[in-house]
Amino acid sequence: MPRPPMIVRTLPALRRALDGLRARKATVALVPTMGALHDGHVALVRLAKRRASNVIVSIFVNPAQFAPTEDFGSYPRTWKSDVARLAAEGVDLVWNPDVKTMYPAGFATKIQTEGPATAGLEDRFRPHFFGGVTTVVGKLFAQTRPDLAFFGEKDFQQLKVVTRMARDLDLGVKVTGTTTVRERDGLAMSSRNVYLSPQERAAAPVLYRAMKETAKRLRAGDNFEAAMAGGAVLITEAGFTLDYFEARHAETLAPIASLKDGPVRLLVAARIGKTRLIDNIGV
Ligand code: PAJ
Repeated sequence: MPRPPMIVRTLPALRRALDGLRARKATVALVPTMGALHDGHVALVRLAKRRASNVIVSIFVNPAQFAPTEDFGSYPRTWKSDVARLAAEGVDLVWNPDVKTMYPAGFATKIQTEGPATAGLEDRFRPHFFGGVTTVVGKLFAQTRPDLAFFGEKDFQQLKVVTRMARDLDLGVKVTGTTTVRERDGLAMSSRNVYLSPQERAAAPVLYRAMKETAKRLRAGDNFEAAMAGGAVLITEAGFTLDYFEARHAETLAPIASLKDGPVRLLVAARIGKTRLIDNIGV
């Protein structure tokens, strides 16, 4: 068994731990998470382990990226099993600040991003979201000063936003994305899947199925609008309410209406019961 990770909760302790790592000229990778870890998170950790000599995983449920109406209070918190999983993966350090450490009294700064953050996807339905994500990820980068950071394609727009921010602010961290880990039936793993009732869980793989079906029609040369509309019908017929189902340029996230203008990414956000799910695939 590898050594259990160091659990660090204060900034002075983090600084001391990082000085220790840096003295050994280690490359440091950061995997930011909100905990409730699943195989998707573990895939990021494994890639980080392959690419860097030291891996830090942050676990912080970031209040700034939840609207007051959203699930901050009920977001799953599974600390013990998270640490056990990270120990089994040989993670070196778990950075687990509390809200007061991250946002001390008088905190008054926000990182505001444009470009991919204003593409009209997640930002249209969760206007508070990217300001919260970029501010906390900017802080996590400043606190841990990683050489590399790993994010999932599962949150495709977030990956683009964070990549852009790191470049724009010369943060000296290379952001890498990884493919989405799915359940056997195609549902993208998500900490929020535990909210689904058995019936909703049974319906949920339709998101991936509809995207795959749509991608297949697009590749076969079907009419673009008809293929997209067909995908949307599959999703709504399964009981979901769509926030969006869109084809976007995989790099710029600009709207796209022809495979020729690609690479194309299909992105979906849909609600069922109390749960909102997102997913995406390349065409
Ligand atoms: P969280 O939802 O915990 O996700 C942490 C990281 O795991 C993100 O980069 C996300 O894209 C990735 N991830 C989630 N599900 C995945 C899956 N099925 N396959 C592969 N990777 C997956 O995203 C956040 O937390 C937060 O917004 C955060 C970046 C930590 C800022 O608070």
